Amino acid sequence: MKFTIRLVGALWLAALLVLGAFAVVQVREEKARLVVDLERRAVLLGEGLREAIEPQVARGSTAGVERILKKLGKPQRGIAVYDRLATLMVATPDLTPILPPAVPEVTEALTGGEVHRGFREFKGSREYVYAAPLLREDRPVGVLLVVLDAGHLVTAEWELWRYNAVRFLVLAVVLTLIALAVVRASITGPMAKLSAWTKELRAGRPAPPPEVPDANLFGPLALEVSRLAGSFHKAQAAAEQEAALRLAGETIWTEERLKQFVNLRLAGRSLVVVSNREPVSHVRHGGRIQAHTPASGLVTAMEPMMRACGGVWVAHGSGDADRETADDRGRLGLPEDDPRYTLRRVWLTKEQEQGYYYGFANEGLWPLCHIVHTRPVFRPSDFAHYLEVNRKFAATVLEEVEKEESPLVLIQDYHFALLPSLVKAERPDARVAIFWHIPWPNFEAFGICPWQRELLLGMLGADLIGFHTQYHCNNFLETVERAIEARIDWEHFSVLRGEHETLVKPFPISVAPEFVDEPPATSRAGLLQELGISAEFLGVGVERVDYTKGLPERFRALRWFFERYPEYRERVVFVQLAAPSRSTIPRYQELQREVEDTIREVNQTLQTRSWRPIIYLNRHYEHREIWTYYRHADFCMVTSLHDGMNLVAKEFVSVRDDDDGVLILSRFTGAARELRDALLVNPYDIAETAEAIRTAVEMAPEERAARMARMRRTVREHNIYQWAGLLLSELTRIPLEVAGTRDA
Ligand code: G6P
Repeated sequence: MKFTIRLVGALWLAALLVLGAFAVVQVREEKARLVVDLERRAVLLGEGLREAIEPQVARGSTAGVERILKKLGKPQRGIAVYDRLATLMVATPDLTPILPPAVPEVTEALTGGEVHRGFREFKGSREYVYAAPLLREDRPVGVLLVVLDAGHLVTAEWELWRYNAVRFLVLAVVLTLIALAVVRASITGPMAKLSAWTKELRAGRPAPPPEVPDANLFGPLALEVSRLAGSFHKAQAAAEQEAALRLAGETIWTEERLKQFVNLRLAGRSLVVVSNREPVSHVRHGGRIQAHTPASGLVTAMEPMMRACGGVWVAHGSGDADRETADDRGRLGLPEDDPRYTLRRVWLTKEQEQGYYYGFANEGLWPLCHIVHTRPVFRPSDFAHYLEVNRKFAATVLEEVEKEESPLVLIQDYHFALLPSLVKAERPDARVAIFWHIPWPNFEAFGICPWQRELLLGMLGADLIGFHTQYHCNNFLETVERAIEARIDWEHFSVLRGEHETLVKPFPISVAPEFVDEPPATSRAGLLQELGISAEFLGVGVERVDYTKGLPERFRALRWFFERYPEYRERVVFVQLAAPSRSTIPRYQELQREVEDTIREVNQTLQTRSWRPIIYLNRHYEHREIWTYYRHADFCMVTSLHDGMNLVAKEFVSVRDDDDGVLILSRFTGAARELRDALLVNPYDIAETAEAIRTAVEMAPEERAARMARMRRTVREHNIYQWAGLLLSELTRIPLEVAGTRDA
């Protein structure tokens, strides 16, 4: 109410100031106009009489003057004639009773010989006086005084003020009504709706924000309130979950538990995570900057961990709008709407990116570690760039931990095999771990790398090396044993070189139980409609277009399935979400063509007028969009030819809170060791995979539910918070052997 009074008061004041200023000007102009009019009339009258009267006055003939004045009839006011001594000779009858004995203008006209004019009060009435000298041979012999009624000037002024006052009142009333209507429609109404909505949120009933007329005004507020409610409910849910787990005596790792663990165990020591891929890349799209979550299992896993632990995540700034979305040191807080950790972007030149990322990491180490019959390419120039970029990242990490006591550095993946020893050499007090997200091949396979020694020595700078499986740990230890001089402690799974010991342990990575913050409300029917299809059974695959993922094999298996079981034609549709990846590398371009050709071939052979067996969606998808596919699919296919873990399998399981859906999973993934209730296949075996598709669509609902429930329990228990907790716990337990260490 106070606001409305203030607003209306302000409008009134504004109207008063503007109208008042205009009224003053208007009154002044009107007065001037009336004075000019009076003067004109006085001049006309005076000049007309002067010629006739002048000779009579000169002669001193009062009778002559009287005669002339009589001829005038009744002038509108009065005329008086004075002689050279300013003595009244004659005055018209209406003037005589009010004329004062002396009129200053008359005397002034006589002495100055010029016309004098002005306003005078004659017995209470306001008059305009015009005194013109009567001349004879240029010498004043008398004065002609014209007196005109000026009372209407005052009346006219009052009239104008009254008129403007009424005008002001009308305007004020209209402004008040309009202001009240606008305030009600744009402010108090929407505010009432917003407060009803926040009440709902507070009560724990999630509701969409109300429609408000001015999105610019209330949109940001609604967004902030939504976020606040989201954080509030998350905190509430976390507390409830913790309490429930405590009651049930369960020891499941949650975000909250990891937070507590980090607070206790790290006790203020800083955590730095390093990876090539950044958690968010900013890209320009149609003139606007968009935030992308890259298609990377590493990012899916590490992001929730960073939210819980805080710290700094050092990564390559690869988006074309990354520089302008970070500060001048390449830093920005993430998540952007509620920062919990810092992303530190490292800038690489095109040549560095080409040699280090596309070249050595992805044409060399990637095919070297994945046994999928793609020949690795090792170029000395690529390795030189790899070393250069590892040094650059090392410098950034060292800068980030410069003022920190005994920091923890968690290095990710095959892009940074040299980084552990580079960091450790400068900061022996840092605890360094490297986690290898891809498989480690056997000694013979790894031995073809010309820089195997450098890579192994680089990695062994770490205090802890992690793989997804014990099998990969064993392969690594065997490689070390045979390639360099070191002592392997097979009892504790560690490598001893001089004074330094490196623990080698499996930490099967996983996902957060909540794949997206808030699942979208898209229904299955809505999804099918969006795709423009109808399907009794929906299959889904979610991958980067990568030759390790077994995409052509999968599509051939689908063909086999439809050929073998034609009754499923027009009933099963398979949707492949395929994120473009590393597409400047010739092998990836070749694969892209192979995938498209295979799909075209399958579709052309089988499709009917109303059905296409495979829908290929070849673009980047955000997690929220992928959630919808996972959630409504009857089966999900993960048919990697070789994969360290494969988090798509775990993502699919984690979103199926309806305990439905079947997972077809390659036995050559790390995930196959944990998700025993998936339909495990050899992806090279087309017939076996086709059979698994049939089993999936024909599986009884009870069996589907039982299998999914068991897999969900596994993923729930072995989640990313547990992974991080176990890894950090191991790392912080390792005693540092260096002399002069700041922390032991
Ligand atoms: C694998 C690697 C990750 C990588 C991801 C996506 O999961 O282990 O390090 O981020 O593939 O590949 P990209 O080259 O696009 O980062």
